[in-house]
Amino acid sequence: MKSILSKPKIIISVVGARPNFIKAAPLMAALAKHNDSFKSILVHTGQHYDYNLSKLFFEQLRMPKPDIDLGIGSGSHSQQTAKTMVELERVFTEHKPDLVVVFGDVNSTLAGSLVAAKMGIPIAHVEAGLRSFDMTMPEEINRMVTDRLSSYCFISEHSGMENLQKEGVDPNKLFLVGNIMIDSLINHLAQCSQSPILETLGLEPKKYAVITLHRPSNVDDQEILSRLLSVLNEIAEQLPLIFPCHPRTKKEMNKFGFDGHQVSGGIRILEPLGYLDFLRLQSESLFVLTDSGGIQEETTYLKIPCITLRYNTERPVTVEIGSNVLTGPEPDKIKPVVNHILNGSFKRGQIPPMWDGSTAARITDILLDKLGSSF
Ligand code: UD1
Ligand code: UDP
Repeated sequence: MKSILSKPKIIISVVGARPNFIKAAPLMAALAKHNDSFKSILVHTGQHYDYNLSKLFFEQLRMPKPDIDLGIGSGSHSQQTAKTMVELERVFTEHKPDLVVVFGDVNSTLAGSLVAAKMGIPIAHVEAGLRSFDMTMPEEINRMVTDRLSSYCFISEHSGMENLQKEGVDPNKLFLVGNIMIDSLINHLAQCSQSPILETLGLEPKKYAVITLHRPSNVDDQEILSRLLSVLNEIAEQLPLIFPCHPRTKKEMNKFGFDGHQVSGGIRILEPLGYLDFLRLQSESLFVLTDSGGIQEETTYLKIPCITLRYNTERPVTVEIGSNVLTGPEPDKIKPVVNHILNGSFKRGQIPPMWDGSTAARITDILLDKLGSSF
């Protein structure tokens, strides 16, 4: 759609954590194509700050450097959210955005939407409507509050539409646009095949599996983490398990004194990987064990069997038609699924509607249309 707004509208996009960068990259590129209509400002809160959780993603996703870097860092939920809010209020006051865009469900998402709402600035939530129905997850609180405050709910799968309809959200705010994380995946699939990660690690395609773990419910509890590491060790007797380890998990493993003793033999613990290495690693794997949100979606697109080490998912389409199975952190549930995969009898799954690489373009078209008429 070609539409030129009378005066460029100022859009501030707020990102802070690894999955935010992957979701924001395609939208930044799509908005940049309409710089006669939009002045796009990117704010990085600094929630994630390690090179391989932050800057590496900006480089690999070819994102513009953040216009504003708040450098908030880690802290308790309230400290992190409150500090981010104070800084964002200053930024929004200075730049007077016509729209604030937030992504996903992290504390930076919550902070951005709370500040914008208090200042009367319209909010667009990319990845709206997902619900795990588990209020012990910090992300569920962040999602629910953000959706409630948003004028534009950009939804990735049909369950998001149904959840928001049930919650009584004005239908004019709901836009089923598909999955923006899959835009990034499609944009980088060819490039990731150049990653040397398999050769570096001495792996052969389909002869290893990948683990990621970072949910507080799995890694902050010594007994659950210990149980998970034992079953992973058992699986690692059958094939190598590659474990790019999130800093939260590393910190907890150190705290509980888990070392080479609990994590042995076939489990190879690595630093978190860059996007291209991780995409190649998961796309050539036999299966993935994870508690990540985004990886459930990426494996569904790639048709790689995914064992989700959680009791629930806010992304039910990955289970309904994708290649995802929920096992919780339960050895008795995990081991039979691994055996199914190893003996070749696991379902392959399908790709959900509109997970096609055009989500950012659909969002941009809606913003061109709506911002042009409603301001
Ligand atoms: C956050 C999100 C989670 C998301 C995950 C993606 C919230 C509430 N949680 O979880 O939804 O799935 O990011 O990866 O927003 N740390 C570092 N270096 C960093 C960042 C963090 O060492 O660059 C360590 C710190 O010890 C920190 C801990 O990791 O305390 C947790 O970081 P935090 O951003 O609070 O939450 P995540 O577990 O990363
Ligand atoms: N990812 C990555 N390197 C890693 C682990 C994950 O690039 O070592 C990517 C992964 O491909 C996906 C995203 O990070 O795109 C998922 O983020 P994460 O699991 O941290 O957060 P969640 O999706 O659970 O919020």
